[in-house]
Amino acid sequence: MSDRASDQEETRRFEPVGPALVIIPTYNEVDNIRSIVSRTRAAVPDAHVLVADDNSPDGTGKVADELAAEDGHVQVLHRRGKEGLGAAYLAGFRWGMEHGFDVLVEMDADGSHQPEELPRLLTALRHADLVLGSRWVPGGRVVNWPASRKFLSRGGSTYSRMVLGIPIRDVTGGFRAFRADTLRGLGIDSVASQGYCFQVDLAHRAVRAGYHVVEVPITFVERELGDSKMSRDIVVEALWRVTAWGARSRLHQLTRHRHTGDHEHA
Ligand code: GDD
Ligand code: MN
Repeated sequence: MSDRASDQEETRRFEPVGPALVIIPTYNEVDNIRSIVSRTRAAVPDAHVLVADDNSPDGTGKVADELAAEDGHVQVLHRRGKEGLGAAYLAGFRWGMEHGFDVLVEMDADGSHQPEELPRLLTALRHADLVLGSRWVPGGRVVNWPASRKFLSRGGSTYSRMVLGIPIRDVTGGFRAFRADTLRGLGIDSVASQGYCFQVDLAHRAVRAGYHVVEVPITFVERELGDSKMSRDIVVEALWRVTAWGARSRLHQLTRHRHTGDHEHA
């Protein structure tokens, strides 16, 4: 992959990146929202922030409104109710593209993704279609995760990488920078993933579409305040969807080879 990537970099000229929108999905993050927004504003002063709140019962949306009233670079997207991370991001992407942003960033609200690392992601996007913050490349780290959660995340990435045949180390991560053009090319209108497998879905689509995807090492710090929304349902959805996507692409490969009579790589 690295050889092909550097070839591509040499031969392909990337458009300069324009204004960025950092989308922060929230569900019950009242203890985290102020700090994450102010850290983001300090780390990337030119960027705008969009909080995508699913009508959090703890009043996160109200606090976000206060922040938006104080700062013209902060906006809030109020959603009806808890519809999952995927739906919140899709709504945020659409809002950002309608408002003319060239770069759409995904970032958690709980401090696990450090806004201070955003400039590195955005710099890498100058020569990429999609940048993934990665815990599982050299230099990437996870702080304060129990062994069970590390195992789940690494296992999820390894399983997805093998079943889908994509050369990405951290497939489920949620600290990412997309060019708007990349998102337009991914056909996001047909994305049905609701939970965290939304991340796998978009990474898979990007690789399959031939986009130049770059992983940048990040330090993921487990939240100190509030609760994770990870659930058994989220894991089950990821497992069945990834397995179904994998089976479908294998089937495509098989039928394609049969039609062309090329059995060499089947
Ligand atoms: N709007 C909205 N709606 N936001 C949500 C929802 C939802 O249904 N579910 C979660 N969020 C928000 C949280 O409020 C937080 O800001 C962010 O999404 C991540 O949720 P966490 O619950 O903190 O995730 P995690 O720490 O367990 O999971 C991390 O690892 C996953 C697997 O690697 C995140 O980085 C995920 O993005 C990643 O997929
Ligand atoms: Mn978290």
